[in-house]
Amino acid sequence: MKNYKIAVLPGDGIGPEVVRQAVKVLDKVAEKYKFSVEYYYADIGGIAIDKTGEPLPKTTLSVCKSSDAVLMGAVGGYKWDNLPGDIRPEAGLLGIRAGLGLFANYRPAVIYKPLRDASPLKDRITENGLDILILRELTGGIYFGDKKRIVTEDGEPAAYDTMIYRKSEVERIARLAFEAARQRNKKVTSVDKAYVLEVSRFWREIVINVSKEYPDVALNHLYVDNAAMQLVIHPEQFDVIVTGNMFGDILSDEASMITGSIGMLPSASLGAESLGLYEPVHGSAPDIAGKDKANPLAVILSAAMMLKYSFKLKEASEAIENAVVKVLEDGLMTGDIATENAVVIGCEQMGDEVVKRL
Ligand code: IPM
Ligand code: MN
Repeated sequence: MKNYKIAVLPGDGIGPEVVRQAVKVLDKVAEKYKFSVEYYYADIGGIAIDKTGEPLPKTTLSVCKSSDAVLMGAVGGYKWDNLPGDIRPEAGLLGIRAGLGLFANYRPAVIYKPLRDASPLKDRITENGLDILILRELTGGIYFGDKKRIVTEDGEPAAYDTMIYRKSEVERIARLAFEAARQRNKKVTSVDKAYVLEVSRFWREIVINVSKEYPDVALNHLYVDNAAMQLVIHPEQFDVIVTGNMFGDILSDEASMITGSIGMLPSASLGAESLGLYEPVHGSAPDIAGKDKANPLAVILSAAMMLKYSFKLKEASEAIENAVVKVLEDGLMTGDIATENAVVIGCEQMGDEVVKRL
């Protein structure tokens, strides 16, 4: 029987409770599809700061490196909000992405039929469903460029962050976008700010060059402000959206809301090696932590992505997705997605209901 080692980083806030549900689901699906899983728990974010003074202890990174995949909850909370930038919980998240070389972040935004009423968009817009893949560059751009607090020549305090992309960084993410589109509806939209930013003009040139290797995939370009608008008026035009780190951060939150709730959106972060990290797009939601109110479906769907992308267990992955859809069809929903006639259930029960339908 094939055995998979999974590093589990529950993190802060609702992280531990939602991750617990995903672990239950993984156990069940492993039993059903005859493989085994071993979990190696480690700390990241605020809890790691409390225990060790660092948001990403070295042991956590090495646990991840010796695993087949990483399952993560969320990081951050009020308690750590006033710490300096490099020891904030979020630094742990950026550190693990960079430390594992995870430059490609896949954020699928799908409207599930039973959740159409949870979408803030009008029915006529979501009528034919929605299935967008946002591919966000994750280890470059303004998140990782040089940054500093300075004093200007005339003595005024100032700060800067640098948005920088290397050719190879744009090429590799563009390639993955075209590859992904080949498996889908064969359309890539590259999002930039090319009429203002030099780095965007550079990005666009490189994407166009890479596109020549993929004549079967259509390519268009949108400015990020227009893309934000198009996502709410004509979301059906999108198949794969490829963009840099910060634009991808913002657009994926927007895309998540049009599907009903950010509590539904999974993500996969991959690099050149096979090791991948799977985490919900949502944050740690400290206001509802420990209240059994959180929606565990984003991390459960992230576990499904793990089976598909890292372990190539397509059938088991789809079994999880189908079980999630069944729970929703049966009208069982957490508070964040509850439509009019839904029965509102808690985090723990949501995990159990998915397991039952597996
Ligand atoms: C996300 C989050 C992170 C990001 C934060 C927590 C650093 O918003 O995964 O989208 O900006 O990448
Ligand atoms: Mn974000």
